[in-house]
Amino acid sequence: MSWTCLLAFAGHSALDPAGPQAARIGDLWWLMFWVCSAVFLLVMAALAAGLVREEEPARRRMNRVVTGAVIATALILFVFLFASTGTGRALASLSSADPVSVEVTGHQWWWEVQYLDPVLAQRVTTANEIHIPVGRPIRIRTVSHDVIHSFWVPNLHGKHDLIPGYDGELWLQADRPGVYRGQCAEFCGHQHAHMAFLVVAESPARFAGWLAAQRQSASPPATPLAQRGHDLFVQLQCALCHTVQGTDANGRIGPDLTHLASRRTLAAGTLPNTPGHLAGWIVDSQTLKPSNPMPATSLGSNDLEALLAFLDGLK
Ligand code: CUA
Repeated sequence: MSWTCLLAFAGHSALDPAGPQAARIGDLWWLMFWVCSAVFLLVMAALAAGLVREEEPARRRMNRVVTGAVIATALILFVFLFASTGTGRALASLSSADPVSVEVTGHQWWWEVQYLDPVLAQRVTTANEIHIPVGRPIRIRTVSHDVIHSFWVPNLHGKHDLIPGYDGELWLQADRPGVYRGQCAEFCGHQHAHMAFLVVAESPARFAGWLAAQRQSASPPATPLAQRGHDLFVQLQCALCHTVQGTDANGRIGPDLTHLASRRTLAAGTLPNTPGHLAGWIVDSQTLKPSNPMPATSLGSNDLEALLAFLDGLK
């Protein structure tokens, strides 16, 4: 799948709402758009009339027009005030006794995603890709430990800031299946623009299947080449930062890679997840995403091939 193709199917537009909250925000946007367009046209018409007119208008008439315009402006501002207050209340009203609970942590510059479960062993940790079932409210707890980020999936909801020290909460719901692109919407450093993620909304059955697969430990290496890749992974610096469940790699600094091969992108939506891009990322991530915390890894081509075989098996 090419990168442009990926972007095409991962929609990213506040004007194409896929859930109840984005729909309310979209309604408010269109109300403001049409009212402001009408006001703009009226002002332009008044300006044109003033320019072509030859004699000065009578003072009383001018007073009436100006007073009328001031009253109309105040009324329009009140309409906007009530409409936006109503939208704010509607956004906060989504709730459920049985939501899918997800904790999203913003890091410089990627998203850690954990599916909460009272049973610790059932928790799932992934990165930069949030799967949700269609038609069910999702409760997202938001956390940051470094700087302020902002969680924004335009098709599903408005922006929500992640402020260090203050855990937040937002609710969202998708009403139709799709892959919706999200983006950090608060400048958070050098690679802020490369801090994207995907929300994959799918049928409840598909979601349940995905979650069950993510709960599994990594499948053991299937070939001798992948086995050598596994050994390299745990011996090299990789394991200091990354976790692969079921192996000795349990670093917590970078994304959990247990099911890396099941994800669509690398480096928080920066690259499509293909072997070529993954190889480039391992060998020289600093050229692809300068200042990101992952150091370059110098590897011979045989070792790189083995490492890729191992990572490719992490479905
Ligand atoms: Cu995180 Cu901008």
